[in-house]
Amino acid sequence: MGGTTAGAAGGNAGSGAGGTLETGRVRTILHFDGGWAFHYGDASGADGAAFADSGWRQLSVPHDWAIEGPNPPDNPFSSSAATTGRGGYLPSGVAWYRKHFTLGDVPAENKVFIEFDGVMGNSTVYVNGQKIGNHPFGYVSFRYDISAAVKFGAMDNVIAVKTDTTTQPASRYYAGAGIYRHVRLIATSTVHVEQYATFVTTPAPTTTSATVHVTTTVSNAGSASASASIEGVVSDPSGTALAPVTTAAQNIAPGSSADFTFDVAVDKPKLWDLANPNMYGLLTKVNVGGAVVDDDVTSFGIRELKFDGGMTLNGKSVKFQGVCLHQDYHALGLAAPQRAMQRRLAQLKSYGVNAVRTAHDPPSPDFLELTDRMGMLVLDEFTDVWVSHKYSDVGDYSAYFNKAATAPTGMPLVPEVAGVTNAGATWWQVDFTGWITRDRNHPSVALYSVGNEIRDSLSTRTPILTKMVAMSHALDPSRSDTQALFQPDTNGDIGSATNDLLDVWGDNYHVDSALTAMVNAPTKSGLLTEIGTETSTWATVKSNAALTGLFMWTGVDYLGEADAAWPTVGSTAGILDEMGTPKSLAFSWQSTWSAPKTTFSTGATAGKVVLTADHSTITTDWNDVAYVRAAVPDATAAVTFEVDGPGTLVAVDSASMTQETFRGNTRNASGNLAYAVVRATGPGSITVTAQSPGLSDGSVAVEATAGSFVPCSGTCD
Ligand code: GAL
Repeated sequence: MGGTTAGAAGGNAGSGAGGTLETGRVRTILHFDGGWAFHYGDASGADGAAFADSGWRQLSVPHDWAIEGPNPPDNPFSSSAATTGRGGYLPSGVAWYRKHFTLGDVPAENKVFIEFDGVMGNSTVYVNGQKIGNHPFGYVSFRYDISAAVKFGAMDNVIAVKTDTTTQPASRYYAGAGIYRHVRLIATSTVHVEQYATFVTTPAPTTTSATVHVTTTVSNAGSASASASIEGVVSDPSGTALAPVTTAAQNIAPGSSADFTFDVAVDKPKLWDLANPNMYGLLTKVNVGGAVVDDDVTSFGIRELKFDGGMTLNGKSVKFQGVCLHQDYHALGLAAPQRAMQRRLAQLKSYGVNAVRTAHDPPSPDFLELTDRMGMLVLDEFTDVWVSHKYSDVGDYSAYFNKAATAPTGMPLVPEVAGVTNAGATWWQVDFTGWITRDRNHPSVALYSVGNEIRDSLSTRTPILTKMVAMSHALDPSRSDTQALFQPDTNGDIGSATNDLLDVWGDNYHVDSALTAMVNAPTKSGLLTEIGTETSTWATVKSNAALTGLFMWTGVDYLGEADAAWPTVGSTAGILDEMGTPKSLAFSWQSTWSAPKTTFSTGATAGKVVLTADHSTITTDWNDVAYVRAAVPDATAAVTFEVDGPGTLVAVDSASMTQETFRGNTRNASGNLAYAVVRATGPGSITVTAQSPGLSDGSVAVEATAGSFVPCSGTCD
């Protein structure tokens, strides 16, 4: 039985198995990734409190069980997989996770929430045998109030999560399976800031002064009225707190909520831009009766991004030098440590990339934290389908899109605009609301894309687009919407309501339609939301002021979209392969975008395995890993890795898209390179060795230090 104990609000107790408390906060936030029991397949009674899970495998989440397969290190790929080549020939089905925990000295009158950054898919959450909620869409974050189901004090609680990807095919690309992003347990006072309520905007900032405009909502789940005020404390990029701002108190009746608005003046702000991604912090404290009862933390940047016949960032013209990216990290599937994401983004940056389109689904909070800190722009995309399935993908998001959402949704209330009502809201309306409210404080999020190549007829799409744009503008008036339109010239979009509705014209592969659409509406900005990897398109982007850039298909190879391609399990459309090795087009873009010139060499040497680690030190955090690279003279030689000391071999990898397990110790090299992904299990010196037949062994040391992984800022590796 894995167990996690929560500490008191602001206290210092509470780091159980894999659970670490965020310190210095009034609100209790317990990182809830450790100590889960996992079972592949269905298990009768696994929702129940008393179910015997002691025989289940112990693991930490994030965890993508599809990439490791049901019996690691056996090969997870199968030519007969229900996911088909579109899903990368990887497995699907039901799997369960269970975790035991106690609430320790969390006060019994607290509200207790469980927050998931993303679960794939159709998850159902139970606490102590009580069904809490169900969420179909696997790419969005959600949180449930579990106060009524938990036991306080030293009593055992158990949370059970069923994930179900049985209905297949469910995606045109690899979609993962399981609790593949982080989980948190949050305990708050009855009077607390609501989910994703805090919204920061910084209208028209200059280098002389800026106004940080904050709105938030405080709800009172207690039984007595509360007179609450907010104290907002902004801290600058160096961590120095500015003078606090306190609002007037409002009386909040039991069961109701109050909105608060305040401004914080910032003298000589350090603006957020691509070269200097300065991040500010906001601590929102809720005061009741002279005591701080709850707090909320929001990271933000001070910047102005405008689409007005072009794109400007803080008054300077900028273009999207973009790549589309799916979310898989090859051997790691969708459960990528933040360090792996950072490594990928840093690689892309070195070729001049300044923007990522999250094709075709919302990214993780970890990913957006990186784009904020690394100074990259994001085209944040909602979904790949609306009403109709694509191909025969009966399990894709269309299966839920127009269905009435079930309560509790785990998301904020849907805004009542354009005929949309919270009562009776559909899943798309709920997911759309959660997506925008979660992502709207990230300075890197430049623009929303409401869908990719939606194949529904224009008459089906127009009323939906009308609602989406109205909702987006209500939830985030500071940002614009585009859509990655599919053949807009033949599908009737040009000259239709689409043109008026979209703030920024976006289309895939149709440069001429984009230019025509902009001529029709000269104040509009346009965007090549998707285009091939040929560099010739850049000349068109450069010579058209209103064209704000392009997102090439694609930045990095990806699993899936390999229909009938067995034994090939992924697409090699990237300018980088899955390990980050550049193809020649990467260098063409590097010179097109005038990025500093780099070269690439495998470092393979006759007679030996040459082993290098991308980082010589890593922390003991789950989010940190080292990529240890073995270069061998034979392009496809088998390489066997061994890890000694306080480290573990998470996976073996190579860029190959031919089906082959990523688990176990051995991987065939591809392009002379094989990789070991290594994580620290404690502080100390880790030694990684690699053998390959007929070669002398390679060896490299990685030093592990106790601590948390802190994502980099600016230029990163
Ligand atoms: C696009 C689509 C992408 C990918 C690409 C392959 O039309 O939006 O998801 O399928 O084609 O070339």
